[in-house]
Amino acid sequence: MLNLVVLISGAGSNLRSLLEACRDAEYPARVVAIGADRDADGLELGEEYGISTFTVPFTSHPSREAWGDELLAQIQLWDADLVVLSGFMRLLPPRVVAALTPNLLNTHPAYLPEFPGAHGVRDALAAGVAETGASLIVVDTGVDDGPVIAQERVPVLPGDTQASLHERIKIVERRLLVQAVLDIANGHVDLKEHSHI
Ligand code: GRF
Repeated sequence: MLNLVVLISGAGSNLRSLLEACRDAEYPARVVAIGADRDADGLELGEEYGISTFTVPFTSHPSREAWGDELLAQIQLWDADLVVLSGFMRLLPPRVVAALTPNLLNTHPAYLPEFPGAHGVRDALAAGVAETGASLIVVDTGVDDGPVIAQERVPVLPGDTQASLHERIKIVERRLLVQAVLDIANGHVDLKEHSHI
């Protein structure tokens, strides 16, 4: 059984997909804690699914490093096998990444290395591309440039808004995440082979 800590900043809809997958007794993973850097709406999923939550507010710490150290301490309490950044909108300090990688995944709403950063959907739309995508990567110390574990193309449709495109991308992100966690738990994917650092 693979124990997961999932970090969020927003609604947690991708997290919900993972929690639903984990409800299946045959699925070899479970979320042991949900963490956030702010009062994220998705923390309510903790109550709904009976899972512990913790919040380490970025703004209550004097520096990114101090915040990261507290976040890492909270994560390590759970002795997780894997930490998933699922819509977590803060860069982790290098020492947090170093402590967790390669057992640290991030979902990204673009086909990396295309459109890295916090506005992957908006940037793809602005560039006028015919297709973008969804990616799941191992986090290393760069911005969205870690090794790709899984990715899939998503077409940009005529009339797409940022919201409509992002919704279709998230459907793919959820599928990639649920499948990758399964593959990691079953030993079909070895994250150590996907580490740059
Ligand atoms: C996902 O597209 C993730 O890649 C991005 O934020 C979205 C998360 O949405 N960075 P939600 O909080 O899971 O609904």
